[in-house]
Amino acid sequence: MTQAATPEHERWPGASLRATAVSRSFEGIRALDGVTLELHRREVVGLIGPNGAGKTTLVNVMTGFDRPTAGSVELEGREITSWTPHRRGRAGLARTFQHSHSFGSLSVRENVEVAALGVGARPREARRRATELLDLLGIERKADARATTLAHGDERKLEVARALAIEPRFVLMDEPAAGLPEGEIPDFVRVLRTVRDEQGAGVLLIDHNMALVMQVCDRIHVLDQGRTLAEGSPDAVRGNLDVTAAYLGESAANGSTASAPS
Ligand SMILES: Nc1ncnc2c1ncn2[C@@H]1O[C@H](COP(=O)(O)OP(=O)(O)OP(=O)(O)O)[C@@H](O)[C@H]1O
Ligand SMILES: [Mg+2]
Repeated sequence: MTQAATPEHERWPGASLRATAVSRSFEGIRALDGVTLELHRREVVGLIGPNGAGKTTLVNVMTGFDRPTAGSVELEGREITSWTPHRRGRAGLARTFQHSHSFGSLSVRENVEVAALGVGARPREARRRATELLDLLGIERKADARATTLAHGDERKLEVARALAIEPRFVLMDEPAAGLPEGEIPDFVRVLRTVRDEQGAGVLLIDHNMALVMQVCDRIHVLDQGRTLAEGSPDAVRGNLDVTAAYLGESAANGSTASAPS
């Protein structure tokens, strides 16, 4: 096989973010039960499953906002299970939240700059990144607006811009496209591909919009009741009868939204 045909992650086997045999219980509820998921640079992996499957809990554990009951998290070969979110951010690991974490009293531009400054960027560099990212997300005209005044779709875009402001090597996105009008999905696909192909990041994408997930993901990981139900290419996952029964239902064939975002 020529080098050009070799996937990036096979040339750089250490360049991954990995959760190994992760479990997390909440007062008897097994939110995660022995889940292993590896995300390489330069790929988009979809994380799907019904409401309550454990998707957000897995992102929380991988980004340091929660600790696993059992299992470990490694970033490029280093065990980071006990690292704080901030330390992980400085090492190149970013996330978006299902519910916005922007600073409401700051402008849209300032929100992005603060995220860059938080990982050590100089003011001039933070400003450059904010300009570039607001443009990439298509919210440059909102740069001076207070974050609280944004419509829901623009709020989701700001959440993504803030995560990208740290120039992440890995970025975990928790329903970043929830509530985006259907007509804006192609623009969002373009953003994800830019992050993967031009910035070289690994992207974990949680979304209930199956058309989006099937279109943009290189691989898909399916959770159900805290366990891995299936993983593989979009075609393999679509053809998996267990997945169809547990989650995709009729929508698998239609490519439509499978269950309500929450
Ligand atoms: N802090 C918590 N305390 C108690 N239970 C929790 C907590 N966080 C999550 N859970 C429970 O863990 C399970 C998994 O929740 P999680 O939020 O990870 O699901 P999800 O796949 O992200 O769902 P959704 O698609 O609705 O966002 C659910 O049963 C949820 O009620
Ligand atoms: Mg969730």
